[in-house]
Amino acid sequence: MPTMQKPIYTGKAKDIFETEDPNILRTYFRDSATAFNAQKKGEIVGKGKINATISTLLFELMEDFGIKTHFVKQISENELLVKRVKIIPLEVIVRNISAGSLCKRLGIEEGKVLKAPIVEFSYKKDELGDPLLTRAYIKNALEIADDETLDKITELTLKINKIFKEFFLNVGIKVVDFKLEYGIDKDGNMLLADELSPDNFRFWDAKTNEKLDKDRFRQDLGKVEDAYIEMLKRVKEGKSKMTNAKTQEKTFSVRVQVLPKADILDPQGQAVEKALASMGYKGVKDLKVGREVVFKVEAESESEAKNKAKEMCERLLANPVIEDYKIEVVG
Ligand SMILES: Nc1ncnc2c1ncn2[C@@H]1O[C@H](COP(=O)(O)OP(=O)(O)O)[C@@H](O)[C@H]1O
Ligand SMILES: [Mg+2]
Repeated sequence: MPTMQKPIYTGKAKDIFETEDPNILRTYFRDSATAFNAQKKGEIVGKGKINATISTLLFELMEDFGIKTHFVKQISENELLVKRVKIIPLEVIVRNISAGSLCKRLGIEEGKVLKAPIVEFSYKKDELGDPLLTRAYIKNALEIADDETLDKITELTLKINKIFKEFFLNVGIKVVDFKLEYGIDKDGNMLLADELSPDNFRFWDAKTNEKLDKDRFRQDLGKVEDAYIEMLKRVKEGKSKMTNAKTQEKTFSVRVQVLPKADILDPQGQAVEKALASMGYKGVKDLKVGREVVFKVEAESESEAKNKAKEMCERLLANPVIEDYKIEVVG
């Protein structure tokens, strides 16, 4: 930490600081780890910086898919700037495979693929051990959120789940479950907040079912740091796969040939033709000198690329009054 500034809040994993901008907070990710409602405490060496970086990459992923988040930027290995929000005191949990408290509560085995993803809400209140809530508890007893907000949160959470499931499966990871927090910013927007890291997700290797998240700490499975390092690697892999796919899919190489029209006087062409004749090349006729323009263009399809190139020719690349052009999309 660069200054002796006091945090406005010290949580179980992060410290929250104010900045000069009242709407922006600085979050510092610590190495400290807790489990079972802070009954178990410890340290995972290097976790702070790994979680800050994984959170950054995953918040950016969310933004790529149009999900509004509190993320502004990563300013050091352990620190992010985020938009200040009023956190809705709900732990929004989504489950794809049975694990953790669901198994305990229902007496079912870990690893059951659920018929459909489940979204559930717990009360974000450490003193009470984050109890599971019903909608009526939320609406009528706590009055934290109304039906409309809960519907919006549920819909958004399922969308996020879909994105994460696909993203991680692409790098050999099953998303078992995870916890999200939402908050409301100064303009009344609902933003995805807090962090997106192996502290709040259960990640299993798709081939071996090896646990690559905080369960290694909770259950004393060893190689805790390695799991976090591995997850950072997979997230980076996933991101680069995405950018590769994006650029490959969406960029087209275009070749444009511009030539003077057949009935247009082409002094340059005539000069070359004359020069060739004087060099002894007989029978060279109708010589035209043109140019070739090549470029890559982003487009959804080949025909869109062609249309874009046509527009560029009409407006700049050719002079349609005196020149013809031929467009070729080469890949
Ligand atoms: N953008 C934000 N604005 C305000 N508070 C936030 C924001 N993002 C996260 N927080 C809060 O910061 C706190 C610190 O994080 P953490 O150490 O994980 O706390 P906790 O012990 O509550 O899990 C959390 O209570 C979280 O809700
Ligand atoms: Mg937390």
